[in-house]
Amino acid sequence: MKLLVVGSGGREHAIAKKLLESRDVEQVFVAPGNDGMTLDGLDLVNIGISEHSRLIEFAKENDIAWSFIGPDDALAAGIVDDFNQAGLKVFGPSRLAAELEWSKDFAKEIMVKYGVPTAAYGTFSDFEEAKAYIEKQGAPIVVKADGLALGKGVIVAETVEQAVEAAQEMLLDNKFGDSGARVVIEEFLDGEEFSLFAFVNGDKFYIMPTAQDHKRAYDGDKGPNTGGMGAYAPVPHLPQSVVDQSVETIIKPVLKGMIAEGRPYLGVLYAGLILTADGPKVIEFNSRFGDPETQIILPRLTSDFAQNITDILDKKEPTITWLDEGVTLGVVVASEGYPLDYEKGLPLPEKTASDIISYYAGVKFAENSRVLLSNGGRVYMLVTTADTVSAAQEKIYDQLEKQDTTGLFYRTDIGSKAVK
Ligand code: AMP
Ligand code: GLY
Repeated sequence: MKLLVVGSGGREHAIAKKLLESRDVEQVFVAPGNDGMTLDGLDLVNIGISEHSRLIEFAKENDIAWSFIGPDDALAAGIVDDFNQAGLKVFGPSRLAAELEWSKDFAKEIMVKYGVPTAAYGTFSDFEEAKAYIEKQGAPIVVKADGLALGKGVIVAETVEQAVEAAQEMLLDNKFGDSGARVVIEEFLDGEEFSLFAFVNGDKFYIMPTAQDHKRAYDGDKGPNTGGMGAYAPVPHLPQSVVDQSVETIIKPVLKGMIAEGRPYLGVLYAGLILTADGPKVIEFNSRFGDPETQIILPRLTSDFAQNITDILDKKEPTITWLDEGVTLGVVVASEGYPLDYEKGLPLPEKTASDIISYYAGVKFAENSRVLLSNGGRVYMLVTTADTVSAAQEKIYDQLEKQDTTGLFYRTDIGSKAVK
């Protein structure tokens, strides 16, 4: 069978590469993808993620068995609804189910209504009311743009002044456009963060290994928030009881709630959690796989990925198995200056040792050649599996030291919370 993956980053590289390893898959197309993916035998399709009718036409003309949607903005734009309307199979939530991600206020309403533990909050579109709420609650406090803001619409304010300023930027100065026309202001939760992913169809769900992302740009969780600078799975110091509790108190009720709301969920559900003194609580839901978490979770899948997704789509019981030993860890290499301004066009190192996977994101071939150049903020990611977090770190960092990363940077402490 032939499959289509929509998106262009490291996440889509990992999804497409894993699908191509599946027994019955002869070809995997990625739209629009990136040139680095072709090194793994993936086929690029020059159609953007927002061009739904062209994607649909491509899928029909090329006998695509089903498509896998990577990015949140495509889901929020209703790509799944459009594919379904055209009679095409697609793995991802409808626009209404994806609202769990594209509106933080909606996600909060669902959590409150169905008893899912999360931070106390208020939603405001009036600045004076937001300000009064912040002053009443005190700091630390968290201010979030309601809509999608490329991971940049969340301010964890240590003082009341910072929080008021953030609310002002969103509500009065229009810093995030429509995404910030409403803000969610919520209680600061203290604890360790982790991510829990599940493949979902309706009330059936299949949990993946736990993962931990590193969202800040620099070592020691310093610097601006990014899309994610590295991750590892599973999180060895998280007891199974925490996972079990998260399933019972978070995953099950939210999926039941979505069914009750007439928005049954299909696709990958991503719960961003924080382990507080009162147990796991939700920071956010995403309606898709995480980037860079996908790149460290999918290499641990030992069953046939395409068959698993086919079964889930067909409401058959899939046989999903995971590597049950060791840790998979990955470090993102980004352009110097990311997440702000950065240069493009730097030559990248050759593909590396065979026990290290390279996943590509912001890259493209130099003209008339197969030399990869940087072409975005997050450029590539090296991933490996080893017995322990420190063994995996050693392998990746040894490799990175051998590479010429002039003009690029990476964090040198991915996974250290697990080693302390
Ligand atoms: P988000 O974009 O919602 O994932 O938020 C970005 C980051 O802000 C999270 O990874 C957390 O580190 C932090 N954050 C968000 N909400 C809270 C909260 N209620 N309490 C503490 N930290 C938070
Ligand atoms: N790793 C964070 C995200 O995908 O949103």
